[in-house]
Amino acid sequence: MLPNPYRPGAGMAPAYLAGRDNTIAEVQKVLVALQAGYAARSVVYYGLRGVGKTVLLNRIENMADEAGVPSEYMEIAEREDNFQKHLALHVYKLIHKLSWKKKWENQAKRALSILKAFSIKYSSDDISMEIKLEAALGIADTGDLSNDMTELFLALGSVAQAEEKGAVLFIDEIQYMKENEFEALMEALHRVNQKGYPLVIFAAGLPKIAKIAGDVKSYAERLFDFIEIGSLPDAAAELALTEPARRFAVKFTSGAVRKILQITQGYPYFLQEYGKWVWDIKMDATQITEEMVQKAHGSFEKSLDGAFFKVRHDRATPRELEFMTAMVQCGELPCTTKDIAAVMKESPQTISPLRAQLIHKGFIYAAERGRVDFTVPQFNKYLERIHGLN
Ligand SMILES: Nc1ncnc2c1ncn2[C@@H]1O[C@H](COP(=O)(O)OP(=O)(O)OP(=O)(O)O)[C@@H](O)[C@H]1O
Ligand SMILES: [Mg+2]
Repeated sequence: MLPNPYRPGAGMAPAYLAGRDNTIAEVQKVLVALQAGYAARSVVYYGLRGVGKTVLLNRIENMADEAGVPSEYMEIAEREDNFQKHLALHVYKLIHKLSWKKKWENQAKRALSILKAFSIKYSSDDISMEIKLEAALGIADTGDLSNDMTELFLALGSVAQAEEKGAVLFIDEIQYMKENEFEALMEALHRVNQKGYPLVIFAAGLPKIAKIAGDVKSYAERLFDFIEIGSLPDAAAELALTEPARRFAVKFTSGAVRKILQITQGYPYFLQEYGKWVWDIKMDATQITEEMVQKAHGSFEKSLDGAFFKVRHDRATPRELEFMTAMVQCGELPCTTKDIAAVMKESPQTISPLRAQLIHKGFIYAAERGRVDFTVPQFNKYLERIHGLN
């Protein structure tokens, strides 16, 4: 029996990463600069749920490994309550990765002493105990988070520069960072850039991150390249389907491809899910036909409903669901608060806290001119299905 080559699932590396060649080529330039000890601009990838942001960060992590550029990966939890502690751990590891050959030389020692003081201030345990050096007090432990993170990043950046190597920090789900932490991160990065240190952040998050960044610091756009990651254009979506199968000499008819593209709208998660089910239906056949695609549709939808959509749906309160079902009924998405309020028979003022809450939880985002849309592709269709809105 042939293995099923499709990989639906959060952060699951696809057998074939389609449509990201230009993005990867840009990353390669950043890594080449870092390898030479030059500074480069950080990047924020933003996009809807399931478009492949995490997968992209993981791919870049592999590229950094191959290029010999030390990196660390962190994911912000929805209710992150100890960002500084996690950051301290990753900075600690980065300093070691950067200077493992000549461990206790000046720059690294200095950086570790600064990190120790930061760690005592913000996380009280682990890392500070590990560092058998005197804490450098009064630099990164003042209690002013922007100052302290800036000093920490400068200490790290100076090690990277002294080693003539770059370093990369990955931050996934960056929209969950608290505003003051995000602001501190930007200030830190701003100073790192001014000093020309080879330290780069690759971050990923929901679309609202571009707006948060703009609100927090007007120079955000100079600090980061904001790159939208979206559904795949037809040619790339086709490759996402056909390439994994090609390895096993299995082909798709053009009708089969067309049908899947039409249903999935080129969303990577949906393509993997459809691929998986139609692969099982084809059994021993070497060609996937439109008829098989039709047959797999029920399982495809059921599987998405039971996992991808349900985990999101179940995190919403009844009031939040009322708001979101009103969005489905308000005509065309994205829709205005006024139209949603009309469906709910309430005033825009009373529902505006709900709107804010849903944006905060990452269900919806402000798309254009205050109109809101879902962060999960086709969530409207799902709500229609399970709440019988048609
Ligand atoms: N470029 C691509 N080509 C083919 N498949 C892809 C591509 N990018 C992602 N996928 C597939 O899509 C699914 C979702 O990817 P991933 O978890 O990286 O999305 P995400 O944007 O991080 O979503 P979320 O916002 O929910 O974290 C995975 O099953 C992955 O294998
Ligand atoms: Mg992700």
